[in-house]
Amino acid sequence: MQTLRLIPDGPGLAQAARLLATGACVAIPTETVYGLAADATNAHAVAAIYAAKGRPVFNPLIVHVPDLAAAQALAQFSEQALHLAHRFWPGALTLVLPLRPDSPIAGLVTAGLDTIGLRVPAHPVAQALLRAAGLPLAAPSANASGRISPTSAAHVLDPEGGLDGRIAAVLDGGPCPVGLESTIIGWQDGQPTLLRPGGIPADSIEAALNQPLAHHQADPAAPNAPGQLTSHYAPTAPLRLNAQPRPDETHLSFGQPGPFSLSDDGDLTQAAARLFDLLRRADAQGRPISVAPIPEHGLGAAINDRLRRAAAPR
Ligand code: TXA
Ligand code: MG
Repeated sequence: MQTLRLIPDGPGLAQAARLLATGACVAIPTETVYGLAADATNAHAVAAIYAAKGRPVFNPLIVHVPDLAAAQALAQFSEQALHLAHRFWPGALTLVLPLRPDSPIAGLVTAGLDTIGLRVPAHPVAQALLRAAGLPLAAPSANASGRISPTSAAHVLDPEGGLDGRIAAVLDGGPCPVGLESTIIGWQDGQPTLLRPGGIPADSIEAALNQPLAHHQADPAAPNAPGQLTSHYAPTAPLRLNAQPRPDETHLSFGQPGPFSLSDDGDLTQAAARLFDLLRRADAQGRPISVAPIPEHGLGAAINDRLRRAAAPR
């Protein structure tokens, strides 16, 4: 695909909003770094983010909304969370909060967790786009997996490891004023906890809360994925992988049709988009679950990583 470079004037913003509404990925400026945005309510669009980045693991993604009211439609805010939102939004603060049960966010965004990372960006282009699109936008940093986060449209399109040709468009809002990812705060055992240091210094947050932050203890087994450390989605039913169907099981097929088909024609992006939803629906059948072999390449590695975690003894 040819990646469009859009100027953030009226027509450029309208085109970016139209692309997002059709499920395309658009790189957008925020005050921290450029984000690779897609409609957070569309699982296929969210899977396309992972595919474009070549991201090997389904880390939970931050969801961007225009204001606190939009955030409150997606998550439950404690007193402390409300206080931080009033003090630091719009801005470089991400809050990890309990997901509302009626939230329309695709399961792939939260990687199956019951929490969601939310941010109200301050960048005027991000603000204008969120309002034009009228959608919550999932957006990790707009770099290929393993590369440095982009702070300009040129970084996003860098011929050396950038996303040119892999995404529909980049909205060029100039260089990012913060240039460092957002600070991520969550609550663990009721304690406000620094999950990732970032654009807002921890001591500013401690001053606002009038309380020290707990520090997240990184798990050496998964140092880069705070969202995966506490819990991950695992069905209550036993799960067999690389399996042929048996009559006593609910079978997730791949590459052939069925009532629980990950993808009829073996499309890994589609399978990724459907994975968490299908696992939940299969679990609700109350029978053991089996899953057909999934190839290990592309998004298949991430799908298999999640399936192995879900099937691990517990
Ligand atoms: O500044 C930023 O935060 C940029 C801009 C684009 O907003 N975004 C960004 O996204 O840095 P990303 O994907 O590179 O980092 C998001 C991190 C994930 O690695 C994950 O650890 C954490 O946010 N996260 C998101 N949702 C979470 C959740 N529900 N629980 C714990 N951690 C979560
Ligand atoms: Mg990143």
